[in-house]
Amino acid sequence: MDDFDTGRFRFCVLLLFLCGIAGAVKREDQLLLPIVDDRGGNSNGLQTFIVNVEEPEAVELLSSRKLKQWHESFLPNATLDSGEPRLIYSYRHAISGFAAKLTQEEVKAMEAMEGFVYARPETTMRIETTYTPQFLEISKMGGAWDSGNMGEGVIIGVIDTGIAADHYSFSDDGMPLPPAKFRGSCTPKSKVTCNNKIIGARGFHYGPDTAVDENGHGTHVASIAAGNFYDRADVFGMAAGTASGMAPRAHLSIYKVCYTVQSRTQTPSVDCRDSDILSGIDRAIIDEVDIIHMSLGANTTPPFYQDAVVHGSLSALRRGISAVASAGNNGPDHLTLSHDAPWVLTVGASSTDRRIRATVKLGNGMELDGESAYQPTSFDSSVMLPIVYGLFCNDSSKMNQISGKIVLCELGDIKNIEKGKLILQAQGAAMILMNPVPRGYTTSSDAHVLPASSLSYNDSIKVIRYYTTVGASATATIVFKGTVFNSRPSPAVASFSSRGPGTRNGGILKPDVVAPGVNILGAWPFEVGPGAATPSQSAFNFLSGTSMAAPHVSGITALIRKQHPRWSPSAIQSAIITSADDRDLDGNYPVDEHFGGTADVVAVGAGQVNGSRALDPGLVYEIDVGIYPAYLCSLGYTNRELKILWGKGVICHHQQHVDASQLNYPSITIDYRRTRGVISVKRTVKNVAAGGAEHYRARITIPPGVTMALSTNALHFSRPDEEQSYHVTFAIDPAASPTLPFSRGKLEWVSAQHLVTTPIAVYWP
Ligand SMILES: *[C@@H]1O[C@H](CO)[C@@H](O)[C@H](O)[C@H]1NC(C)=O
Ligand SMILES: *[C@@H]1O[C@H](CO)[C@@H](O)[C@H](O)[C@H]1NC(C)=O
Ligand SMILES: *[C@@H]1O[C@H](CO)[C@@H](O)[C@H](O)[C@H]1NC(C)=O
Ligand SMILES: *[C@@H]1O[C@H](CO)[C@@H](O)[C@H](O)[C@H]1NC(C)=O
Repeated sequence: MDDFDTGRFRFCVLLLFLCGIAGAVKREDQLLLPIVDDRGGNSNGLQTFIVNVEEPEAVELLSSRKLKQWHESFLPNATLDSGEPRLIYSYRHAISGFAAKLTQEEVKAMEAMEGFVYARPETTMRIETTYTPQFLEISKMGGAWDSGNMGEGVIIGVIDTGIAADHYSFSDDGMPLPPAKFRGSCTPKSKVTCNNKIIGARGFHYGPDTAVDENGHGTHVASIAAGNFYDRADVFGMAAGTASGMAPRAHLSIYKVCYTVQSRTQTPSVDCRDSDILSGIDRAIIDEVDIIHMSLGANTTPPFYQDAVVHGSLSALRRGISAVASAGNNGPDHLTLSHDAPWVLTVGASSTDRRIRATVKLGNGMELDGESAYQPTSFDSSVMLPIVYGLFCNDSSKMNQISGKIVLCELGDIKNIEKGKLILQAQGAAMILMNPVPRGYTTSSDAHVLPASSLSYNDSIKVIRYYTTVGASATATIVFKGTVFNSRPSPAVASFSSRGPGTRNGGILKPDVVAPGVNILGAWPFEVGPGAATPSQSAFNFLSGTSMAAPHVSGITALIRKQHPRWSPSAIQSAIITSADDRDLDGNYPVDEHFGGTADVVAVGAGQVNGSRALDPGLVYEIDVGIYPAYLCSLGYTNRELKILWGKGVICHHQQHVDASQLNYPSITIDYRRTRGVISVKRTVKNVAAGGAEHYRARITIPPGVTMALSTNALHFSRPDEEQSYHVTFAIDPAASPTLPFSRGKLEWVSAQHLVTTPIAVYWP
């Protein structure tokens, strides 16, 4: 799961550093592939392997039993010594293959079998609104919800930690019946009762299991995408108002693949295993959902055939299903992004203009604006409290003599709220959470159990300076100011949001877009604050992460699918990318909350999603799914790797290669890390405007460091669905020497009715 877990922060930073280096090396790849991947293999023990095999003839006609028999024929025998079946899942659509418990040696022995393609040990991924529809102006008059489109009849499949189906956000008031095509259900094992909002629920935990959400993440994500209206939403009275998802009339089908793993030594983690993810995607395809939503992250970016989200999305796309995924919370460094395949809409996180303000007041009179959701009126802000500094706030045995004091805590090791609980137990009066450098200006309005404030890095430095100057006589208090709007700059890229460039896609710009992902209010199955574990049908909570950003885009995808049922997933993806706002509310390029300056194009992608514009994009760039094998060949995938991803019948001939820059993607990337000289790219746009005839003129913003020439300055369309092509030629401008690793430009096609923005990114060596 992919919400931003501050508890793992330090760990992530360290790991990312390694990942960044690994990514840099892997870029040159060498996609040399052993038939049996034995990374980390425990040579004697049993492991779960994902095994790719050839599809049997006429697989569409095979019964599940026959397909399972085909898969079992690869196994040494059907059961382990324990009597447990070896086969965990037999996949039909997500991949051609199965998941089974095997030893290294047994897999080695399978290599020789006819029809065997590849095996790898499974890996795991992690997970860790009242306001956003308004902020995105979806609910405004003339916005996307106008004309009665709230995503009716569209089915979003959510692959996550399950659902608290009895939460008010999933009431089926006003919901139509499930579409006739839908083949899913709430299975008895799922322990979830379906209605017209939650129309399917299944759990996958090495086999069928419950789909009840014990964590909250999946419930929160589902409510952002398609929660129904609930008019009394708030967190301790903050951000009060009517909550709803982006597509309040879309249906949800739930696939629980992430489970809490208890550990004696560490805090429990939530693991989402590949075999379960693939099974969730498999079932979502069988059920005929329209959109597969995945807020799942990984700390590494494997090749496409080893990434369950990416591989499953390709299989879904081939059946007309849109796939949306979170970019990851491994920012602020470059090369930290997951799921960078062109057939996945990859979403980064931005902050909104709302703050739940908790202002820290220092003994010297300085005031610093932070955030907290818990704002008790019983707290007397006029009393200055002595400051305690020097604790990590994760160890109660070190919290001596903090009674009645305000404790400065650095982020990390355990979650912010857990720190507050320890301080409260030790009779501390209040807590100030201090961002380390990488967290920059992104603050959290957590539902604390004591008076608290989360401060930006700059403000944290000011507190520490004051403390080190004054010493033991330093004092502070917190003044609660409630929910405030119009904070600036906004939207800005969240410090934790994973940054591109992608390491696996040949240079295509990622993330595609950013969407609100900081302190997002969503449905929560438990009371927050001191009674946190108590189940609740009406509780809401603030969470931050690209996990929270991506479901905004899934919801908007549902609105587009409702409005334009015949559009391909690539046309919808294009509509979302070319209509994004590349400027913030003040008309500037969005700021990066890590350092406070202008965000790189690889942090912000095309910009902030704009739902109402995405419904009427004017022109779209479409990609025929059939081009992807040629694209994969250009990335260096071998015939066998291609077979894993695509199945039989495609071979990489030299003439077939389609370079990443030549895919008809809605953004253009010129990757001078890979090649120098003059680069010409071709793009084809299709007229999807209701009116038919339309006349577009080109407007270009040349990225610093290059020259840019366009084959035509005007495009005329006389009928709907008409296509026109153009070329753009780039050369390095000898007169300019860009100092940044990435430069940004754009090509806009402007008509009287539409503005179609194609972002341009240049990557420098
Ligand atoms: C299955 O095969 C393994 C070795 O391939 C063997 O050790 C095991 O005893 C067999 N189990 C059964 C139930 O036959
Ligand atoms: C979306 O685009 C429209 C048209 O340009 C603009 O008026 C609106 O403010 C944008 N919405 C947001 C949330 O930026
Ligand atoms: C608290 O966090 C610090 C820094 O991450 C770590 O070194 C220390 O071991 C942690 N203490 C406990 C009791 O977990
Ligand atoms: C943060 O602090 C640095 C160093 O003092 C300063 O240059 C920068 O302008 C500050 N940024 C903001 C947004 O206050």
